[in-house]
Order: sequence, then structure tokens, then C-alpha cells
Amino acid sequence: KGNCWGIYKYLCQYQGFWLHPSFLRGVVSAQQQFQAQPTDIILCSVPKAGTTWLKSLTFATITRTSYNDSTTPLLFKVPHDIVPFMELHHAQFFTNRDRGIPLLSTHVPYSSLPRSIIESGCKIVYICRDPKDSFVSLYHFIARILISRNAQPLGLYEAFELFCEGESFYGPYWDHVLGYWKASVEHPGRILFLKYEDMSDDTEFYVKKIAEFVGYPFSSEEQKNGVIERIVKMSSFEKLSNLEVNKTGVYGTPKTGFVENNTYFRKGKVGDWKNCLTAEMAAQLDQITMQKLSGSSLSL
Ligand code: A3P
Repeated sequence: KGNCWGIYKYLCQYQGFWLHPSFLRGVVSAQQQFQAQPTDIILCSVPKAGTTWLKSLTFATITRTSYNDSTTPLLFKVPHDIVPFMELHHAQFFTNRDRGIPLLSTHVPYSSLPRSIIESGCKIVYICRDPKDSFVSLYHFIARILISRNAQPLGLYEAFELFCEGESFYGPYWDHVLGYWKASVEHPGRILFLKYEDMSDDTEFYVKKIAEFVGYPFSSEEQKNGVIERIVKMSSFEKLSNLEVNKTGVYGTPKTGFVENNTYFRKGKVGDWKNCLTAEMAAQLDQITMQKLSGSSLSL
């Protein structure tokens, strides 16, 4: 049961959230089989909140002694190929982990994470974003995919109405954010809760914070030598979006279909919703956000 999003039709509801069927299989299989270890680091996000960026920054941070700016795999692969999505290809994660890169990512809501992730005590880094910008980003992302497949994208207003009702990938958006927020308040040492806007404001500060949180802190020598600055530069929107691999490559699996890597890099700005949403639409989303987050001490 669900609504049609063109090619992305029939989202289905699973444990309170709207999932694409081909992701659902991966989620169920991860719930049944994924065995987390205490040293794993899981990068979690609500879609279009800066997942690609978080993957790049965290990967560059934890592999900084293995690679430099001219050897890092980030130059040759889209970050999603480097840090796999649990619900798409967690088998690749085991290979990475064996090589000492214990990084995995997921859009799965907190309440649906495999039990071993919660029980192992492994670190979770979550990123979210102003829902207005995430909605606009998601709308363009899906529209670009559909157009590239000669399919008709949903109109902005129809997509907006569905998003407000909670029917978007891994939506309701607010429930996703709140699930991780509440868990981060309960377990601050286990879950680091980040916002795209804060990260844009002072990326170096947050890279330092992520590094400390995941157990790879920067030494004062590294800080003096500009290592954090280099990681931020390497993972910047300008740098990543201009790499050949991200201009021309594709990402995906035969099951989910392939997406051009450049679809993950649109504008990379805070507040781009102003170019897309009417004042009424923005007010409607703000109103929902206020209602949903009331009493939570979180603001978006
Ligand atoms: P916009 O569509 O607003 O430009 P995700 O990675 O979760 O799919 O989110 C995609 C959003 O993050 C897009 O936002 C994209 O442009 C932005 N983004 C991708 N790489 C980024 C980077 N290195 N720095 C900042 N934003 C980035």
C-alpha cells in the first residue's frame, strides 16, 4: 500500500516509516543478520541531510594516516562506494572492516536499527537538516533520476503534500530525526547528533568533534600542521563535485537501479529552499516542525 512516485512507486510502510521495497528487503535482512562490533562506526542520516558529506569527512578522518590528499580513494570513488549503505550492500562493509575501516552508513530509523547496533555499544553519528532544505534537495534528487529514466517526476506541490504527511523516503522526516535525537539525549557517549547547518557554519570544529567521538582524535601536532583543514578541503562540495568520478560516474545496484554520482551534488548550500518554496509552503513546514519537536528541546 502506498503512493506513486513515478518510477519510485509504491513506498511501503514498515515499522512506522515509508520505505522503497528494494530497500525494505535490505533492512529486514540487516535486522536479521547484521552483527555490529563495539568498534564499528555507523553513519546514520535522514535522506538529503548531508550523508555524502559526512561519509567523506569521517572516512578521510579515520584513514588520514593511511592516505594523503593525492592517494585517498575519495579522489576515485563516490563516498557511497567507499562507505556502503547497510540496507544496500553490507557485505562490502565486512571487507572494509577487515581492512581496518569500520565504517557503515544507513538511513534506517533508530527504532528499526538491527539490535546488535544498539547492544554492541558501537558509535553512531547522525546528521539531519532543516526539513525545508531536505525536502527541496529530495525533490530535485528524485526529479533528476526520473528525468534521466524518461519518467515524469511528481509535481512540486504533490511531493510537498506527501512529505508533509510523512510519505517520503524513510519518512515521516520528523519522526526519523526525533528517534535519533531522543536516543542521543539518553546515550550521549554513543550517539553524536549533528546538523548540516552547524557543520556548514564551522566544519573544522565538527570534524574535530567527530574525530574525538569516534576515537580517532587529532593530536596537537596534526592540528598545528593543518590536517583538519586539509580533510575539510578534500571533502568540500567544490572539491568533491568537481572530481571526474563525481561528474561522470554512476552509483547503485542492479536491484535499485543506478544513479549518476553528480545527482548527490546539487548546490550544497544552507537555505536554498528560498529559491523553491513559497512563503506559505515554508510556513507550513515550519509549523509541522514546531508541533512535532515541541517538548523535545531540539530545534531545526
Ligand atoms: P542540496 O540538494 O541542497 O544541494 P545526501 O548526501 O544526504 O544525499 O544529501 C545531499 C545534499 O548534500 C545535497 O544538498 C548536496 O548538494 C549536499 N552535499 C553533497 N556533498 C556535499 C559537501 N561535500 N558539502 C556540503 N554539502 C554537500
